[in-house]
Amino acid sequence: MEKKIAVLKGDGIGPEVTDQALKVLKAVEKTFGHKFHYTEALVGAVAIDATGNPFPEETLKVCQSSDAILFGAIGHPKYDNDPKAKVRPEQGLLAMRKALGLFANIRPVNTYKILENASPLRADLVQNVDFVVFRELTGGIYFGTRGRSEDGNMAFDTCTYTRDEILRISKLAFESARQRKNHVTLVDKANVLASSRLWREVVKEYHAANFADVTLDFMFVDNAAMKIIQQPAFFDVVLTENMFGDIITDEASVITGSMGMLPSASVGSVVGLYEPIHGSYPEGAGLNIANPNGAILSAALLLETSFGMVAEAKAIRAAVEKAMEDGILTIDIRREKPNSTTEVGDYVANLVAKGASVVA
Ligand code: IPM
Ligand code: MN
Repeated sequence: MEKKIAVLKGDGIGPEVTDQALKVLKAVEKTFGHKFHYTEALVGAVAIDATGNPFPEETLKVCQSSDAILFGAIGHPKYDNDPKAKVRPEQGLLAMRKALGLFANIRPVNTYKILENASPLRADLVQNVDFVVFRELTGGIYFGTRGRSEDGNMAFDTCTYTRDEILRISKLAFESARQRKNHVTLVDKANVLASSRLWREVVKEYHAANFADVTLDFMFVDNAAMKIIQQPAFFDVVLTENMFGDIITDEASVITGSMGMLPSASVGSVVGLYEPIHGSYPEGAGLNIANPNGAILSAALLLETSFGMVAEAKAIRAAVEKAMEDGILTIDIRREKPNSTTEVGDYVANLVAKGASVVA
């Protein structure tokens, strides 16, 4: 197959981890006989430095003319503590989500045997954890009306949702449940918020009419935050709005033992975007220490979701797992004599090359 991939490495460790994912994609090309065309474009702080805009028009064009987007990370500390900064790297990310219509953020949360003791939770609690969060990504408080009173002493953000916005992500979540353990949990705050009451109403109706074979339950977000710690194996598919999803996916990621391992997909009507869930980790930038597996597994998710390349994705996942079993681990997982970012990338790419030739 011949495909076009936009490569947005972004800030901090984004470039180093994305480079490892590219190595692995090149191994896939060779061994499975595909041709991928890569086009790099700027986003985030590096884009502000170069153009003044965190998501330049040129980058939008590159994304729109690609079949999928591989994304690194965004964010730079020089903007974090400056409440008056006029442009922020994060605005680039939000603009990109909106412009590309990426309304669903899909974050799988699963653990690896080797990481069981790295989790802040007891090993028996994290065994069998395997769930996926469907977070709504282009609505809610992130994109509502916001403002500040003239005297500066009052500020507000509004959370708005429409029936259609709720329906289109619900469809994806229920379809995913049918491929998994057939269980959806809607996380909301319907005891307080009108927007949450709309979510409940719409999801309930939609479920009854179209997915009655899937188990559906409802959980308030505060309760869900506890449950993720107390009994994470309870969950299969979590469906939720933008901000609740932002918070609980960070919480969920750490129980796996290393957030450096987790990929994510943001999809919508046109092109899909794939990125590790970790941030730009500016303190680690350029040190060749970051765990590239989140980025590498994002490439696997890209192949599977956007290109339908199931065997290729499987080969990457198997290689990541084997590399870990072989003791090829970055410092987030093994503090003594850790492997570097590039060592992990080389090892995994090599395994993908070998694995595929054995299959073929
Ligand atoms: C994420 C990030 C972003 C978000 C920030 C950087 C705007 O935390 O992708 O989860 O809140 O959506
Ligand atoms: Mn977040």
